[in-house]
Formats: sequence, structure tokens, C-alpha cells
Amino acid sequence: MTQTLSFIHRFEPGRQPGAPPLLLLHGTGGDEADLLPLGRAVAPDSALLSPRGKVMEGGMPRFFRRLREGVFDEEDVGARAHELADFVAEARATYGLAAPLALGFSNGANIAAAMLLLRPEALAGAVLLRGMVPLSNPPAADLRGKPVLLLSGRMDPIVPADNAARLAGMLKAAGADVRHQILPSGHGLSQTDVATAGAWIREAVTGSSSSKPARDGEA
Ligand code: MLT
Repeated sequence: MTQTLSFIHRFEPGRQPGAPPLLLLHGTGGDEADLLPLGRAVAPDSALLSPRGKVMEGGMPRFFRRLREGVFDEEDVGARAHELADFVAEARATYGLAAPLALGFSNGANIAAAMLLLRPEALAGAVLLRGMVPLSNPPAADLRGKPVLLLSGRMDPIVPADNAARLAGMLKAAGADVRHQILPSGHGLSQTDVATAGAWIREAVTGSSSSKPARDGEA
């Protein structure tokens, strides 16, 4: 389903009333169709809300401006995080949704992390795939009770290991219930990402498994 709100987006209704809606946030050069199959794979019963980033970099959609790879225009990050949080509120009212869990990849993970830090009420939690620190000095946020899964790649050439660890620490310091797992992969997603994210959503968010996921550490 597509309806014109403040972002071009795709919406797929949920299949079970209790399933947490997912906000799908694509990487650089992606669009609103990109993560629909991933969303369906990790949360088969969830409503899927998938906007297209409004910032263009050489014809590639993104969610905020960057000065170069890994160096962000932080003023734009802040403005775009608020703009996206406003879209989430608009879409929740239009489609009758609970606060969504963000599922973001790369640039999409980074805008999701910025939303958590700047507009915590917009998200129920987040799965951050190859996320990095979006803001060097964010204001204090209250993320108590929000579950966050950060999946990093040990061979990721874009996200340095210490940057991902800093993001995990920042979210933890704000009270989020963070699980940071480092996978034996690069920046691209693997089947392990899909399996880990799916299990985490089932266990940590819907509580439908008896085994609690491990906390920090390597896969
Ligand atoms: C970003 O710009 O958000 C990160 O460098 C990830 C990317 O999109 O390449």
C-alpha cells in the first residue's frame, strides 16, 4: 500500500495484532522497496513501514547528508532525525500503528540511532545493522526499557570497531537494553544477520522464546 505522507514510502499491514510494527530504513542508494523482504523474513507478522530517504548523493537516496564516508553533517543528521520522527507520528495516526521497532541498515541504522537519541518516543527499540555513532555530542536521552540490537561486521571497512562499540556504549548509558554482537562479516548483510535479528525480535521484543539472548560479545 502507498499513500502520500511527508515521505515517499511503502506500507504493508501486519498479519497479527500483537506483532511489533517495523520501520525499515534502507542504506545509501536504496529505496522504500529494498528492505521489505528482510522485514518480512525477520518479522513475518509485523506491519512494515518503509520510507525513502530524502537526501540525494549523486542520485542515491540517503537519510542525511555526509561530508564524506563516515563523516556526517551533524546539523543535517539532527534535522532529518526530527523530520523522520514526525513522519513516523503521521504514519502511526494514518495506519493505526503502535510505536515501531526500527530495522535500519548502514545509513538507515545511523538515522535510527539518531532518532533514538533525539526523539526516543518515536521508536519502541531498534535493530541497527552496521550502525555507527551519528552524533558526537547528543543531548541526554532516556532510553530506559528500549531494546536495541547492534550487529557489526568484524571485517567492515566502513564502520571501525571502536566506533560501533562507542555507539553501543552511548545507547547503554542512556538506559537502553543493548545487545551488541560482532559477526564474522563485512559491511554487507549475511544470513547470520537475518537469523540473529529474527531470533532477537522474537525473544527480546515479543518474549516468545524461553531462552534469553546472550548479551554483548562475538558471534
Ligand atoms: C553513512 O553515511 O551513514 C555511513 O557511512 C554508511 C553509509 O551509508 O555508507
